[in-house]
Amino acid sequence: MIKQNLNTMGQSFQAEIEKAENVDEIDIIKVKYLGKKGKLADLMKQLKSLDKEEKIEIGKQANLLKTQFQNQIKEKNEQLKRIKFDQQMENEWVDITLDPIKTQMGSSHPITMVQNKLEFIFESMGFQVLDGPHIESEYYNFEALNIPAHHPARDMQDTFYFEDGNLLRTQTSTIQIRGMERLEPPLRIIGTGKVFRCERTDASHDSCFHQLEGMMVDKNISVAHLIHFMKTMLSEIFESDVKVRLRPGYFPFVEPGFELDMACLLCKGKGCSVCSRVGWIELLGCGMTHPNVLRAGGVDPSKYSGFAFGIGMDRLAMMRYGITDIRPLHGGNLNFMRRFTLK
Ligand code: PHE
Repeated sequence: MIKQNLNTMGQSFQAEIEKAENVDEIDIIKVKYLGKKGKLADLMKQLKSLDKEEKIEIGKQANLLKTQFQNQIKEKNEQLKRIKFDQQMENEWVDITLDPIKTQMGSSHPITMVQNKLEFIFESMGFQVLDGPHIESEYYNFEALNIPAHHPARDMQDTFYFEDGNLLRTQTSTIQIRGMERLEPPLRIIGTGKVFRCERTDASHDSCFHQLEGMMVDKNISVAHLIHFMKTMLSEIFESDVKVRLRPGYFPFVEPGFELDMACLLCKGKGCSVCSRVGWIELLGCGMTHPNVLRAGGVDPSKYSGFAFGIGMDRLAMMRYGITDIRPLHGGNLNFMRRFTLK
């Protein structure tokens, strides 16, 4: 009878272990057959009632069954582990022979690079970088800069007007006034950003471009200071010793006003196609700040004097990188943009 039980136990174990699909199910089977209160333990208890010979024989068989159960459980566990691993390999399969997905490296716009470099240069000379709005009032763009409503200088900088009388700023010189209003002299400030003019677009003009404005106000500031800072800025940006010259130039907010030229870097002043054979390249407007402008900024012109300058960063970027047309500089062609780098 007990022998019979052993046989059916073996068969039912066999059937159950084959069906088991995961580790939890195997654990249940293990407890059911091999546990302290399991089927085998039960059977062992019944051995007591048998005679000696039978006890030995059935005991042997029961032990054999026990080892068989243990082995099969171990094997089944390993088999399940293998299946799980194979499934994982199937699902997480990567073809390492494929080309990697190339990440697109970004790069700064040439004008941004020039702007960053200029800001760095001026900051290292003690200048503070300020910002100003693109939409300005007539006051900041013209009046405070010594250009009253009737003044013909307004024609030189036609722009886009809003119905409320505000306009798109034509120059970063607005930042001179805003800077003086906010800060006490002595001050050294620069401001960079977009400016707008109602202009026809061609290779060297666009209705939107970028300027850098600078201003220094202190006691006894002279043209010598102006020349020093301009030479330092240009030598740093062009990475060579730059020669400059001043010509008289008219800007209502400076007196005297100058156009600053730089000796052509290509021909060293001898004359070539880049500088239209004159040896000099017209670069920026500058001058000694007009007393009316100082007053508009709340600065007493009998105590302080200052210089100011404004430079087109697009022009500078074009010269720095040998770009001959302003339009691609303002277009969205990434292949064009990526060609340029600046240390
Ligand atoms: N704002 C002038 C322009 O846009 C440049 C300039 C700035 C000239 C400061 C003199 C002093 O043309």
